[in-house]
Amino acid sequence: MNGAACAKTAAASPFLLVNPSDPQSFDRFAEQYDAAAALERRHDFFLQNLPERRDVALDVGCGTGLLAHALSAHFRFVVAVDISEPMLALARRNRTATNIDYRRADASDLRLDARFDAIVSHTTLHHLADPSRALTALKSSLRPGGRLLLVDCVTRFPAAIPRLTIFYWAFASLRFCRDLIRRNTREALVLFRFNLSRRWIAHLQSDRYLSRAELRALCARELPGAQCVDFANFVGIVWTAPAAGAALHPAPAHG
Ligand SMILES: C[S@@+](CC[C@H](N)C(=O)[O-])C[C@H]1O[C@@H](n2cnc3c(N)ncnc32)[C@H](O)[C@@H]1O
Repeated sequence: MNGAACAKTAAASPFLLVNPSDPQSFDRFAEQYDAAAALERRHDFFLQNLPERRDVALDVGCGTGLLAHALSAHFRFVVAVDISEPMLALARRNRTATNIDYRRADASDLRLDARFDAIVSHTTLHHLADPSRALTALKSSLRPGGRLLLVDCVTRFPAAIPRLTIFYWAFASLRFCRDLIRRNTREALVLFRFNLSRRWIAHLQSDRYLSRAELRALCARELPGAQCVDFANFVGIVWTAPAAGAALHPAPAHG
């Protein structure tokens, strides 16, 4: 994330999507984010890669609880953490289940007193100041044979292009046309308004994504043997902790 670190210090500009990073930015648009995410979110990647043993799962950067709630049907217990209290308040209100514990915590400084069968995270890794360190901590919190399942955003373009606001507006308009065809008009409008909302754009101005190659290289380094799966603007990662007593022979990353 090193272009990232430089960009984080850049000044805001009306023409470029560049702003200082703000880990609490979700506090300011939690309701709107939830309305849009609930329309778009699919959990197939996570549900198709669950480990056999399904006692306790951890969702890191759980947001408004969409994934934690889906997992609660598959695990005995789900711990779901996020840094944003407004996001957690919506999770507790709208995605409640007796076997989910929503807690406020900073994923960069997790103190975990349990071992998990699955640790999942959807589009949160890029928010963390030191993703390598976070991956090391998460890995060591898995039970033998447990799974780390991550999805994170990647950028497909040279750094400057997605930061041009004109490019972003054109893209949002194209998505609106596509959504009008695929969805009902109300849903298409919810997504369009959210994508063009001042607060979401301000958030995007602080977002920094790795390229696909950078994220794959991070996995090869930190999660030897991980499978990486490409989706449109995302990479999905599956890593299984060695079984108890297994020799630690790093296998090459593939996928
Ligand atoms: C793009 S949202 C994804 C939320 C949820 N996983 C989803 O898919 O709807 C990123 C989430 O990461 C959370 N977040 C950002 N930095 C964090 C940190 N250091 N520790 C814990 N959560 C963090 C934000 O509050 C936000 O809820």
